[in-house]
Amino acid sequence: MLKANVPLQAVAGLEEEHAKALQMAEEFYSTLTRLRYEGKAALGKNVSDARKALAFFQSDLICHFEVEESILFPYAETHIPKLEPFTSLFRSEHEDFRKNLFAFQAMLGDLLSDKKHAQDGLLQGKLQNTGLYLIYLLRNHIQGESTSLYRAIRQELRQSEKKELALKMKTCQRELAGRVLLHYDRHRHAPF
Ligand SMILES: [Fe+2]
Ligand SMILES: [Fe+2]
Repeated sequence: MLKANVPLQAVAGLEEEHAKALQMAEEFYSTLTRLRYEGKAALGKNVSDARKALAFFQSDLICHFEVEESILFPYAETHIPKLEPFTSLFRSEHEDFRKNLFAFQAMLGDLLSDKKHAQDGLLQGKLQNTGLYLIYLLRNHIQGESTSLYRAIRQELRQSEKKELALKMKTCQRELAGRVLLHYDRHRHAPF
């Protein structure tokens, strides 16, 4: 059997998360369009839909970034050194996404609380630009990772390395899940 055809559970889980993130990005795109054109009457419903997408980005997607940064990228850099320029680009894209996600959330809050400012279109314009930037960034990021990093991991790691990587990722994901539960328990409301 060719190495490229060997199933790799470690990255298969992350690739499923990519598919889910792309689906959420499409839903977020539709919500942004409605936020722009449906006006004040539907503002509450559209803000609530936008918050559902943000909740996914803040929890599932940010966890995905953490697993990549803590385990996948360092492992790839050590075992396939030619990937280093790619992983460093992906790290900076993660940071860019986090920063703009935070900015978008703040603007969404302003949209509800400062209606006068929202009416002049300035805030709505900034919100749309930041939202669209997040969507394009995510699409490009996932496309870039799939065609470089994930493909190389599937094709170039030995079986023993794939097993070692899978084990490291499992441990990391368990620790992250524990952290989320601890946060949930401490604050007694939804995590993040
Ligand atoms: Fe990533
Ligand atoms: Fe990723």
